[in-house]
Amino acid sequence: MTSTPAATAQVGVVGLAVMGRNLARNFAHHGYTVAVYNRTAARTEELMAAYGDEGFVPATELADFVASLERPRRVVIMVQAGKGTDATIDALAELLEPGDIVVDGGNAHYEDTRRREAALREKGLHFFGVGISGGEEGALNGPSIMPGGSAEGYKAIGPLLEDISAKYDGEPCCAHIGPDGAGHFVKMVHNGIEYADMEFIAEAYDVLRSAGLSIEEISATFRQWNTGDLDSYLIEITSEVLDQVDAKTGKALVDVIADSAGQKGTGRWTVQIALELGVPVNTIAESVFARSVSGHADLRAAGQEHVPGPAHSFDPADRAQLVEDVRKALWTAKVVAYAQGLDLIRTASLTYDWNIDVASVASLWRAGCIIRARLLERIRAEYAGHNLPTLLAAPSIIDGIAEANEGARRAIGTAMQAGVPVPGFAAALAYLDQVRAQRLPAALIQGQRDYFGAHTYQRTDAEGTFHTEWSADRSETKLD
Ligand code: ATR
Repeated sequence: MTSTPAATAQVGVVGLAVMGRNLARNFAHHGYTVAVYNRTAARTEELMAAYGDEGFVPATELADFVASLERPRRVVIMVQAGKGTDATIDALAELLEPGDIVVDGGNAHYEDTRRREAALREKGLHFFGVGISGGEEGALNGPSIMPGGSAEGYKAIGPLLEDISAKYDGEPCCAHIGPDGAGHFVKMVHNGIEYADMEFIAEAYDVLRSAGLSIEEISATFRQWNTGDLDSYLIEITSEVLDQVDAKTGKALVDVIADSAGQKGTGRWTVQIALELGVPVNTIAESVFARSVSGHADLRAAGQEHVPGPAHSFDPADRAQLVEDVRKALWTAKVVAYAQGLDLIRTASLTYDWNIDVASVASLWRAGCIIRARLLERIRAEYAGHNLPTLLAAPSIIDGIAEANEGARRAIGTAMQAGVPVPGFAAALAYLDQVRAQRLPAALIQGQRDYFGAHTYQRTDAEGTFHTEWSADRSETKLD
């Protein structure tokens, strides 16, 4: 029989696959004693064998793991989302005591987080749904962290999370986002924007490649763009991916990777929730659909065989101009995706009473996470102290769109005429043109709806609700 361990650890991590292991090591590197537990003891043993001297208290029983934690106990769960998380929470809830804090660092759906938070609150436990972005490397060396949970619980867990987070100009990329599901919601939208960002970069690449630029030229172009306003992690890694030569064939790796993009679901969730909340996020939706098309083998085989394209080949007269125009299209689309994602967060915050500070969200994304980009500091500054109805109303963004306007339109128009698919770019431009339109054809849609379904309409010149007697004398009735 083993004796109960002394409570010496300030934080514990359950789940020691790559993310959990790296997060545990990150805590240890910041001077914390870290209790570690994994359902299968072999993973714990592996961690101890490789990094045992970094400051861990390993346990093979969950009860011993809990006993080794100082109070209030702080437990970070890094297990498989869904059933794994629920099973772990249930087991922990039996062992923890009121005032203890449970953090789910996985990519949970925010509705699950709301449910779990409410259930644990009943037991006096603080449950935190925490979005963590930055991949394996970020988890180890400083991720962007988006915590949602009670303000009281944050006092106990927040400082530790801020310690291990990425820093931007010395400021932690971690701040209390809001209660219950707020953190996981923001992380989900982060991922939605990430989908859009990646799609835009891929479209820029595709347009340039289709115009005859070599992979080397395109890689150099991205590297050049990365010294300006497009400076971002995703552009940086794009150059590296393009530079990679396949050892087996000697070809560019990008030419031997199968062109079917995977997804784990956070982009799809973003679009589903945006549909429910009525927030237009067409750039993110197109990015999710673009991945779907890429994986739809039958559809593509039929399309390749039967669907006609444009008559002329793509041979732009002025390549330098095209490159500059594509840069402007990329910048414009990126701004639209941020605007849409932040609009979704703002709307969810109002819907769920989360009181999310959009400037703070932008500040957390400036370092550590996958969408980290120079532009985010500007976005933070534009939102700070201003209640913007949309990012597109921010002065420096208006100037940027005006400056990019002509070139972006030319690039997108050229791509469409040449038959190069640019669903993300086109969605961004359509959105801009919709929101700036003085009149939308929605008036005609209202007329159609009234015609076939007596759905009624409003007039621009009078109060009230109206209906035209379409199948009779076509006179108009005022209904209220
Ligand atoms: P990977 O990240 O390597 O793909 P995973 O299947 O997503 O692995 O699991 C990640 C972590 O969740 C692992 O620590 C796993 O524990 P095991 O090492 O025992 O497989 C943990 N995990 C998954 N399901 C779990 C469950 N029902 N209860 C507890 N932990 C679970």
